[in-house]
Amino acid sequence: MNVACHPDSPWTRVDWRALERLRSKFLDETAGASDYWTQMSDLESYDLSFGQRIAWKWNRVLDDLSVLGWRPPEADVLDWGCGSGIAGRVFLDRYPLAENSALWCFDRSDLAAQFARRRAAGRFPGIQIREGVPASTPFTLLLSHVLTECDAAEMEPLLSLARRAEAVVCVEPGTYGASRRLIHFREALAAGFRIVAPCSHRGACPMLQEVNAPHWCHHFAWPPPEAFTDSNWARFAKFMGIDLRSLPVSFLVMDRRPDSRRLPGMTRLIGKARIYKPHALILGCEAEGLIEPRVSKRRHPEFFKKLRKEDAPPWVRWTHEGGDVTDIQAPPQDS
Ligand SMILES: C[S@@+](CC[C@H](N)C(=O)[O-])C[C@H]1O[C@@H](n2cnc3c(N)ncnc32)[C@H](O)[C@@H]1O
Repeated sequence: MNVACHPDSPWTRVDWRALERLRSKFLDETAGASDYWTQMSDLESYDLSFGQRIAWKWNRVLDDLSVLGWRPPEADVLDWGCGSGIAGRVFLDRYPLAENSALWCFDRSDLAAQFARRRAAGRFPGIQIREGVPASTPFTLLLSHVLTECDAAEMEPLLSLARRAEAVVCVEPGTYGASRRLIHFREALAAGFRIVAPCSHRGACPMLQEVNAPHWCHHFAWPPPEAFTDSNWARFAKFMGIDLRSLPVSFLVMDRRPDSRRLPGMTRLIGKARIYKPHALILGCEAEGLIEPRVSKRRHPEFFKKLRKEDAPPWVRWTHEGGDVTDIQAPPQDS
């Protein structure tokens, strides 16, 4: 593909063939089988494109956490399966490293770990950055778009590692398969952690009930305006066959500390509403299980409008009777 762009733009260096190769591995789910980073330019191209989309998802998740008033522990940060290291950088942008703490970059690919370390050093001059996994220091574990690449044998050591973490923040694609993996990850770790988000309760995940088998826990991130105004993004979308407007994400945040903030009595909205003329149906996760009540356009015009515009808050406090929402309270504000 002929990609014409400003000579100073990093997009001029994008290796489109490498992106195409990566994309087909991600799509046919063979990415876990073997290391696919062949040279630094693979990582550079990924970081600018797929990696940026992942950054948008992280920003959405971190916004959600700020509504909850959550902050990470003052500890090292380990970006496991770091790839180009985008997750670690977005996380540190939002939550600068505590004094005497380090960022750890780990990947099965040494090339990736090196790339992630260098990029982080450029972004945050002077911070401590290490390649590998901390042996004994407390750490926050970041997992980003990696669970789907781990088979059962790789999940066991990863679970052991997660059990050593102070907090775990995991951001995965919002697909059925990725969400289901994340739910099993949650269930395997739930005993040792407080679930911070996205769950509205600490019980078993209701998605696992047979009746809820068609559902998956996913949310939507919002791409920034440049995704629609920058011609490089338009080319990327066309070349990769990706709809940039749709950015589904599944995530999980767990913390060992007893004071993790939560929103008691709140319902977590899942996915997109189904919009009909007189009402909308939206899936909500509550301590009692999943519910998909009707939101009447006449009774709740503002909330209906938000659902239609895909602009509803992630949490609501509502009451419902006989399958109809009877009252909706204002969502919490950023704290
Ligand atoms: C899709 S990329 C995601 C990279 C990065 N976390 C992000 O969000 O952009 C998955 C990364 O996980 C790494 N990976 C896959 N299986 C791994 C394993 N068993 N141990 C360590 N890293 C692994 C791959 O090398 C790759 O860098």
